[in-house]
Amino acid sequence: MKLSILSLAALTPLVAAHFKLDYPTPRGENEDIMTTFPCGGLAQSSERTKVSISDGSFPVVVTMGHMQTAFEVLLSLGNDPGTNFNVTLVPAFGARGLGSLCIPHVAFDEDTLGINITDGMNATVQVQSNGDPTGGLYACADIEFSSSTEYSKPSSCKNNTNVAAAPFTGEAAQRNANESTANGGVQSGGSSTSDSDSASTSTGGAVALQTAAWGMLGAAVVGGLKAALNSAQAPYTQHLYVLLDNQEVARQLQGCPRGSSQHTILDFQELTNNWPNRPLRCQAIPPGRVHVHWIPGHAGITGNEQADEQAKRGTMSTSQTNSSPARYAWALRTLKEEFWRRFQLYWTENAPQQYRDLSISLDKRPHELSLPRATLGRLLAARSGHGDFAQYHERFRHEDANLECSCRRPKSPHHFYYCRKGRKASPQPWGSRQVDEILRSKSGTRDFHEWLQESHFYSSICPAH
Ligand SMILES: *[C@@H]1O[C@H](CO)[C@@H](O)[C@H](O)[C@H]1NC(C)=O
Ligand SMILES: *[C@@H]1O[C@H](CO)[C@@H](O)[C@H](O)[C@H]1NC(C)=O
Ligand SMILES: *[C@@H]1O[C@H](CO)[C@@H](O)[C@H](O)[C@H]1NC(C)=O
Ligand SMILES: *[C@@H]1O[C@H](CO)[C@@H](O)[C@H](O)[C@H]1NC(C)=O
Ligand SMILES: *[C@@H]1O[C@H](CO)[C@@H](O)[C@H](O)[C@H]1NC(C)=O
Repeated sequence: MKLSILSLAALTPLVAAHFKLDYPTPRGENEDIMTTFPCGGLAQSSERTKVSISDGSFPVVVTMGHMQTAFEVLLSLGNDPGTNFNVTLVPAFGARGLGSLCIPHVAFDEDTLGINITDGMNATVQVQSNGDPTGGLYACADIEFSSSTEYSKPSSCKNNTNVAAAPFTGEAAQRNANESTANGGVQSGGSSTSDSDSASTSTGGAVALQTAAWGMLGAAVVGGLKAALNSAQAPYTQHLYVLLDNQEVARQLQGCPRGSSQHTILDFQELTNNWPNRPLRCQAIPPGRVHVHWIPGHAGITGNEQADEQAKRGTMSTSQTNSSPARYAWALRTLKEEFWRRFQLYWTENAPQQYRDLSISLDKRPHELSLPRATLGRLLAARSGHGDFAQYHERFRHEDANLECSCRRPKSPHHFYYCRKGRKASPQPWGSRQVDEILRSKSGTRDFHEWLQESHFYSSICPAH
């Protein structure tokens, strides 16, 4: 028997958990009020993590529940610091992937703190991220500086596979993560006017979102179900699975609705009952039914975010009403086209800043993929700024990194273009073309490859160590 699964996705209320602070020991966890500045609304903890003064650094570990997140690590000195997080330990950076991210050495010293640290002094660390969709998410850990504690790395300090983080550059690096988008942009609708203004706007917004969440969630489920009923795959689908990470909603959808969401739930149940009688069903496909399942939240579940995103789009897109079942080839082509269209849309909104600056457009078969791997690696590093570059090492405090090229200039993504030793080693083939064009165009990247071969630039002139 053929079993098609049309996953309608995990619909999440707008205030659901997005990241979790694992180390230093956090004040607690309450997803619902994590949008409250400061500290996600949680009061000071009696448990303070001891931090080694002699080492001058401590690890910070978070579990990420979003595919892309802007983070920042702040500190406030004193026993109960209130809102005064005026020390930036790690400026805003972008992280990708789900699961653990560990920064092993978040450094502090007299210069950053403005005072000499003594044994027993207390402080609070706040990790903040961008919100969803606006505002911020906040988690705090209370710490105590200690001269009798050695630096130690908790076992949770590792990076999950496919997790990557890189500093923001330019203006994005100056912005607070709670006022940034996941990729370092300005939050739409978010104002960065006066401090008191933006703080109160954000609290007001959070309250409104919390009250709205239930109603919106129910509406999204119904919208999603409607979209699924009318989707191009519906005729070939037997069972429909609705996966929710909100247990209460999942329970109510299947049982007796109560409270203000009754209407929405009844709409849902009516649609569900109609599923086996859907008019578009192919004869070969049994009627099937709608299953509602609760699945545990966001974090660490690969694909959940994408599913979420697809569901949201599904609820917004206009329904397709094919009068007769599609032919296989047609359906496949339509799906491919639709995928590409949505990917382009996604890319216009989410392309990294550096790619925008370089005007790198989207291509079904990116020409650079035909370059040998070593060159491709160098090219992507130069495009993204994520590589063996001085700014990158400084940002992440890689203490043993070699920050200079042998020509005595700092390593930078564009240094290969300007380095006089490089030029001497092999004449550069790019003539009057600018560095942007070398990094962007097909002929530029090809010349880049040839020149790297001739000059041995990254192996002899600017080696990693
Ligand atoms: C942070 O604020 C406190 C209290 O206002 C002040 O004493 C301290 O100098 C500030 N620290 C920095 C690094 O600005
Ligand atoms: C910190 O201590 C050093 C040496 O003990 C002293 O020279 C310096 O002035 C102190 N700094 C502050 C901000 O108190
Ligand atoms: C730091 O906090 C601990 C526990 O909250 C407290 O016992 C201690 O007195 C505080 N240290 C200072 C210097 O105030
Ligand atoms: C995790 O990745 C970040 C960014 O790439 C890096 O700075 C950090 O050192 C990594 N952590 C561990 C434990 O390797
Ligand atoms: C963002 O974080 C900063 C630093 O913690 C804080 O001063 C500011 O009020 C926050 N902005 C909003 C909109 O909450």
